[in-house]
Amino acid sequence: MEKVSVVIDGRTFEAVKDRCVLEVAHENGIYIPSLCYNSEVPSSGGSCRVCLVEAHQGGRMRLVTACNYPVRKGLEVKTDTPLVHRIRRGVLELLLARVPDSEVIREMAASEGIAEVRFRKDEGENERYKCIACALCTNVCAEVVGVHAIAMTERGADKKPATPYDKPSEVCIGCGACAYACPTGAITMKEKDGVRRIWHRDFQMVRCSVCGTPYIPQAQVDWIVSRTGKDRSFFDKCPDHR
Ligand code: SF4
Ligand code: SF4
Ligand code: FES
Repeated sequence: MEKVSVVIDGRTFEAVKDRCVLEVAHENGIYIPSLCYNSEVPSSGGSCRVCLVEAHQGGRMRLVTACNYPVRKGLEVKTDTPLVHRIRRGVLELLLARVPDSEVIREMAASEGIAEVRFRKDEGENERYKCIACALCTNVCAEVVGVHAIAMTERGADKKPATPYDKPSEVCIGCGACAYACPTGAITMKEKDGVRRIWHRDFQMVRCSVCGTPYIPQAQVDWIVSRTGKDRSFFDKCPDHR
């Protein structure tokens, strides 16, 4: 793998050519805020724009999203300039206006000196006023889990992930990967008495035969067994007791 030197905030680092600036910065202890990027999800990133930084190369400066900008020879990145903070504040103001219920966005905005706004508590099952419409959840479902149970629907301020016709999805396996990946906690997943509820559907959980803890939906077990041929008895015990 070819390595290149990249300068970030005045410090020089060796990095694999074409890795994204965000990962190289984070690995070297330099903070750049991010929301919609997940290194495990190939088409994530480029949506929320909180990771904007200055990229200087060949005598030119551009504002770029660090999560999908590749490190190349001669690149100098600045993450902490007055321009970066001004643009980031603008992005966060817009996000906060869209999702005033999101603690993550409120905290990120506060760190840039943006004042609190009033909550707009959503009454629905999924927390609309926390969703920044980044599509990370739909990409996780399709690209990591390999199921296409949800998709982005509507436009503009109403854009959101949903199951087809907002009905319980027949293909959802209740794995919860979408909820775990969501950067703003906008997907409601609840568990009670061995039943997980997500995306308008109830999933019976399998209990560990040793500790009795419900730890994986039966539908997820069925899905893994049908795809991999794994022995069903493997799922009798939770990861802590295998
Ligand atoms: S819980 Fe359903 S929608 Fe979410 S990632 Fe798993 S299969 Fe996809
Ligand atoms: S629910 Fe979460 S991951 Fe999905 S689009 Fe909204 S903010 Fe992004
Ligand atoms: S984290 Fe880079 S655009 Fe969202």
